[in-house]
Amino acid sequence: MELFEALLTRRSKRDFEDKPVPKETIDKILAASLRAPSWANSQPWEIAVSTGKTSEFIKKRIYKLASEDDPGNPDFPMPVSSVSWPDKQNANMFEMGKLLYESLDILRDDVAKRKEIALYNYNFFGSQTAVFIYMDEKLGHYSILDSGMLIQNILLAAHDLGLGACPQAYLVAYPDELREIFNLPESKKFLLGISIGFYKKDSAANNIKTSRVELRDAVKYYD
Ligand SMILES: Cc1cc2nc3c(=O)[nH]c(=O)nc-3n(C[C@H](O)[C@H](O)[C@H](O)COP(=O)(O)O)c2cc1C
Repeated sequence: MELFEALLTRRSKRDFEDKPVPKETIDKILAASLRAPSWANSQPWEIAVSTGKTSEFIKKRIYKLASEDDPGNPDFPMPVSSVSWPDKQNANMFEMGKLLYESLDILRDDVAKRKEIALYNYNFFGSQTAVFIYMDEKLGHYSILDSGMLIQNILLAAHDLGLGACPQAYLVAYPDELREIFNLPESKKFLLGISIGFYKKDSAANNIKTSRVELRDAVKYYD
């Protein structure tokens, strides 16, 4: 796939086949993604890949916590409250939510259905594989920026190989569980999880196309 085609057609996938992604495929995606640029080539990211029994274990633990409405304690707090976002971004997010719920025939006030959909996050959206990105607590803002570049590489590389992926803040809502399962010290902080897998092509959740603001509204030239 051409790079521009990949950039223009990648979308978050949220409904996967219950089928493992071969380790060689994950290795191929990650080896290429690790070419991401970073501050002075610091390569601040650390990566844990969850498959098989580990995935089953993680899903069970975090799904239970989320279904019991445990608010979690993400290492990088989530700006969930609509109060903390500027109007422009709030409008973008509202539109995205509308698109997702409408594609799934869920009414905005159907709290039970919305919760069910949100909980699917903790089940890796049905996939058997998730990639977790974490870094040392001594690292700062630039390392988060660097890790974002790694993450985008992973999303694009997965797409190029015909797989689906979804970057998920929800997957790192319970970092204490992840540290315990991956045997990591408290000093390692989780940035994001990414479910990767063979996506269901006909699933409504996999066929939404989020909008973007027009180029002219996003960019200013200064001649
Ligand atoms: C940092 C970050 C965290 C995200 N967390 C979640 C999440 O927890 N659950 C989810 O379904 N999507 C999550 N997303 C996916 C976004 O909703 C998605 O990228 C956005 O709506 C644009 O859609 P697209 O990826 O299909 O272009 C996240 C994306 C990013 C970049």
